[in-house]
Amino acid sequence: GLLDQKIKAKGKVYLGSALDPNTFNDGAVRPVAISGDFGAFTPENSGKWDTTEPARGVFNFTNLDALVNFATSNGKIVRGHTLVWHQQLPAWVQAIRDSNTLTQVIQNHIATEVGRYRGRIFAWDVVNEIFNDNGTFRTSVFFNLLGENFVDIAFRAARAADPNAKLYINDFNLDGPGPKIDALIALVGRLKSRGVPIDGIGSQSHLILGQVGGVAGQLPRLAATGLQVALTELDIRIQSPVTTQKLQQQQNDFNTVARACISVPNCVGITVWGISDKNSFVDSTFPGFTAPLLFDRNLQRKPAYNGVDAAF
Ligand code: XIL
Repeated sequence: GLLDQKIKAKGKVYLGSALDPNTFNDGAVRPVAISGDFGAFTPENSGKWDTTEPARGVFNFTNLDALVNFATSNGKIVRGHTLVWHQQLPAWVQAIRDSNTLTQVIQNHIATEVGRYRGRIFAWDVVNEIFNDNGTFRTSVFFNLLGENFVDIAFRAARAADPNAKLYINDFNLDGPGPKIDALIALVGRLKSRGVPIDGIGSQSHLILGQVGGVAGQLPRLAATGLQVALTELDIRIQSPVTTQKLQQQQNDFNTVARACISVPNCVGITVWGISDKNSFVDSTFPGFTAPLLFDRNLQRKPAYNGVDAAF
């Protein structure tokens, strides 16, 4: 069977990928996206604030509508990404200087974006990358003006806009022990004690070849919060040059990570951050690293694909 079909047979909800109109309109990528290897899509960029509300109260859902329509017309589900994030955040939001205005802006942004897709997007990354690696809150207009309360405001607004969507906190570097994952788990506890509606923790899992062993240790800690968990942006980057041996290691690494999700009951799914190596953000973001995904630049299955397949 194909990957999404096989992970469902293991009791999970989906094997997904990042996708957007620019990538599904590629005639080589499209058939792989439509195939049974993928059952869910996350808009790679089209759901972000700079795209969806470039000026206050001026919304543009052209690309997100296209992604959601492509997904649903091909029988796939959609993870929404992302509502409150310090990156790809328009200057007009960053220029806000009073807390009441910012609260209204967050609430209107979320009500409009989540409300538009009510019933059609099954989960949302409500807040993204809000912690530093040392466990303190990241500096942002949100934290600066509202403190931790910006998280409560965002989740409550998302629940009001779509009561059935699963609401996630999403972050990276949750793949190993340390102050960041400790802080995230502690925040989840405070949110629950305040009655804030949160359903899931997303671990992005942008990993480095040979450094994936922490996932199996940390995923159960995230799941012990009682929330559902997901690997939301999985890729495993290789330092150039790519060799046969490194591709074999990547197969082992993908197998290890996929098995970690399989063995945690409330790990609901895995999303890889792009269909093929030509669709990855890694090359431009991490100089010297490349080839982090399951399909190569010619849309051929890599050893990494077999590593995931063997885990299911
Ligand atoms: C990345 C996209 O893949 C790129 O195309 C874009 O230029 C920058 O953002 N963490 C996230 C994702 O939550 O939204 C990021 O996506 C990758 C890191």
